Amino acid sequence: MKKLFKTALAATLSLALAISLAACTSGGRTEQPASPAASSTDSSNAAPDTSINANGFAADATIGVSLPWLGTQNWQEASDMFKNQLETAGFKAIIQAADNKVPQQQSQIESMIENGAKVIVVGPIDGSQLGTVLEKAKDAGIAVIGYDRLLENTTGVDGVVQFGSIETGRLQGQALLDGLAKVKGAGPYNIELFGGGPADPNAPNFFKGAMEILQPKIDDGALTVVSGQTDFTQCATLDWDNAKAQSRMDSILSGFYSDKEIHGVLSPNDGIARAIITASENAGQQIPVVSGLDAENESVEWVWSGRQYSTVAKPTDVLVAKTIEIIKSLQGGNGMPATDVKANNGKIDVNIYELPPVVVTKDNAKEIFANDPARMELLK
Ligand code: BGC
Repeated sequence: MKKLFKTALAATLSLALAISLAACTSGGRTEQPASPAASSTDSSNAAPDTSINANGFAADATIGVSLPWLGTQNWQEASDMFKNQLETAGFKAIIQAADNKVPQQQSQIESMIENGAKVIVVGPIDGSQLGTVLEKAKDAGIAVIGYDRLLENTTGVDGVVQFGSIETGRLQGQALLDGLAKVKGAGPYNIELFGGGPADPNAPNFFKGAMEILQPKIDDGALTVVSGQTDFTQCATLDWDNAKAQSRMDSILSGFYSDKEIHGVLSPNDGIARAIITASENAGQQIPVVSGLDAENESVEWVWSGRQYSTVAKPTDVLVAKTIEIIKSLQGGNGMPATDVKANNGKIDVNIYELPPVVVTKDNAKEIFANDPARMELLK
């Protein structure tokens, strides 16, 4: 028990360090919590919402956690950490992942309701497809917390815990620009753009944040998207499937780059970054500057060896710890903690508990992971 607590504490400290580092390296831009998707309201309005589970619930109650899939390291970590940390806190945990299949996720949530869960934590596959089942949870008096992704088009959500998704995209776009200047000499540069799974509400936000940084450089000719594919719909990767990204990259390289060098690629996460890099190597290109997300072990190694330029860390242990803090507040009858960040989900303004993501390159990796022994191990 103690060890787990220490790990969470170490991670929190590590995040604090990372945040202060990010503030130093990017003029303080990264620590701002609000994103265009989330509107900040006057913090004087922010009082805890005690209408949910006003009397609290038993300290050994059942808590459900419904995850979209286990296809990237962050979701596997979330599954393991929720189990450990909920049980350590004395709760009974039902943890399930739905293999990216919406009906499977709907029926897993149904069965959490039937099993008497007091809180259900949901990382949706498709942010807009859980409305009915979440309304049902709400009617049963169950608190619903969105995890890592927004829950859209439903009143059945009490709050969402996540890293700023527009800010994540901005960091990816900025890292791509910085990496091009550092690694590829003077421009102009040839680049391509990739987005994540279109059903995931984070994916368009990541892309939007990145384009805030990249579009002016495309407009002034510093960057050329040689394929001409610049809309999110053209660049998205169905189901965040690395193989689909790799085959899109193969086609782009054979169709547009037989006589050109590709200098950089915007990638929405680490799995897709590695697919893009592999496709580029297979096509005989110099490795382009590629962004990423998740600080997956394999990509941390690639960043360290110079094969992938950057990733973005959004530490799962910090996100899980924040979620459990909210569950404990509900358990004690203290309601949802106050927050002054809200996002409209199509039906209601949702409380957002937003944490700051941090960019990682070879230059700052040792500082960012100073309190993460597993990732420090990879920096050798
Ligand atoms: C998460 C990323 C993850 C992606 C694919 C996104 O919603 O924020 O961490 O890489 O889903 O699983």
